[in-house]
Amino acid sequence: MIFDFKSNLNDSNSAIVIGVTEDFKENKNFEELDALFNGKLEAAVEAGIIQTKLNKVESSSAVLQTSLRKVYAVGLGNSKDLTELKLQEALGTVFQTLKKDKVEDACIHIDSFSTEESFLKAIGLMGEISLYNQVNYKKDVEPYELTILFNKEVDESKVLEGKLAGEAINFSRDLSETPPNLLYPETFVELIEKEFSNKENVKISVKDDKTLKEEGYGLIHSVGDGSERKPRLVTIEYKNSNKAPVALVGKGITYDSGGYSLKPRTGMVSMKYDMSGAANVLGMLKTLVDQKKEVNVVAVLALAENMVKGNANRPDDVVIAKNGLSVEISNTDAEGRLVLGDAVTEAVTHEPAIIMDFATLTGAVIGALGESRTGIFTNQSEEYLKDVLKSSKKVGEKLWHLPMDESDEAAVKDTPIADILNSNLRPFGGASFAAAFINQFTEGYPWLHFDIAGTSQFTKNNPYGPKAASGVMIRTVVDYILEGSMYD
Ligand code: BES
Ligand code: ZN
Ligand code: ZN
Repeated sequence: MIFDFKSNLNDSNSAIVIGVTEDFKENKNFEELDALFNGKLEAAVEAGIIQTKLNKVESSSAVLQTSLRKVYAVGLGNSKDLTELKLQEALGTVFQTLKKDKVEDACIHIDSFSTEESFLKAIGLMGEISLYNQVNYKKDVEPYELTILFNKEVDESKVLEGKLAGEAINFSRDLSETPPNLLYPETFVELIEKEFSNKENVKISVKDDKTLKEEGYGLIHSVGDGSERKPRLVTIEYKNSNKAPVALVGKGITYDSGGYSLKPRTGMVSMKYDMSGAANVLGMLKTLVDQKKEVNVVAVLALAENMVKGNANRPDDVVIAKNGLSVEISNTDAEGRLVLGDAVTEAVTHEPAIIMDFATLTGAVIGALGESRTGIFTNQSEEYLKDVLKSSKKVGEKLWHLPMDESDEAAVKDTPIADILNSNLRPFGGASFAAAFINQFTEGYPWLHFDIAGTSQFTKNNPYGPKAASGVMIRTVVDYILEGSMYD
């Protein structure tokens, strides 16, 4: 999205975007809006030319000075029930209508929505994420770009802050959408270096396959070595504060075929998205880095491809993790927890204030929560989750606390042949088992595990974006980090 902060309502031929509440007659800007419609706003609502119900968009026209202008009116519902989130979603909805109609310039009449700082940020954010142009390799598709004008002067910095946050989310989405023949550990690292290597306060280090083997990262090595495209363990430090770091760990399986525990043909489709945890961690980092936020964050990304090959993992193998635990691999398709085990061990070396991992980890979490809620697990109390749940509510990303206790830990240890096993091959409780597996590597550090298997993609178009990769949890976790309660 492009912003034109200089022009106003009258000096262009742009479309005009207005918000109309059900109780529009009582609104302080009624007269101004009414004037747009030659004193016929009420009649236009009565005739259904303008809808006031939340998120209903209608286009009509108005004569401004001497020119005929297109007007997009979005309903905002009752002003008493209007929240920041509802305004944000109404914006996304109207932007998507502009995209559908191929409108190139639109002037937002912000007085009819809100002049609050949060709304200005929402314009920048939604301008990016609601209009996300999905990666595609079609011959003749031009990406859509909208130019936004404002009916009056606004604080540009707020709009641009929202835009930066939106661009970071779209950066993650692009990574997730890229086909697995193009995005694999080596090329993933190239893209990370391109994005972050010349940014202030950022340091990147990469361990390749050989180093992983030599240094004893037996879990990620054993998963990734079964592919022609070798694994990488990437650490990115962003140190812009003297506090202990927040560690963000991402599952970056660039393709999950299941390995020798091969997925059925339908289960394999979409497994390019199995690196969305890593992609979304990069989105969180990019949001913080681009806005020069004063935080200390270390991101650890476990990049590997889970394939079938002569030296790939086989069910029955026992491998030794970086932290020394022996692991029986009973199912090669439970590869995410393996790579995360070594990545969490790496995160621990930074003595973080908190570890958070993000992973498209289990089909079981989808069975439990569906495709619009992320499952969260912790080794801390329910109380500890209060603040992250608050952030998730604030930004409108659903998060649901799921259990993990000693019974899951016992199940993880229930093997005669090794310290732990990666799957007990039972069809129930798989998300809690997987969480308990990862907890074997946290060394008692406060830890949150986000299972985003159901939420890494939107299943349908919605105000936050099209049916494509979602960038889920970026907004929640950035808000949570900036709130800073992990240091209390
Ligand atoms: N990447 C999958 C989980 C997944 C499934 C993500 C569906 C998105 C949609 C993960 O590696 C996996 O295969 N998990 C297995 C674990 C099982 C073998 C213990 C699963 O959930 O079936
Ligand atoms: Zn798998
Ligand atoms: Zn996987």
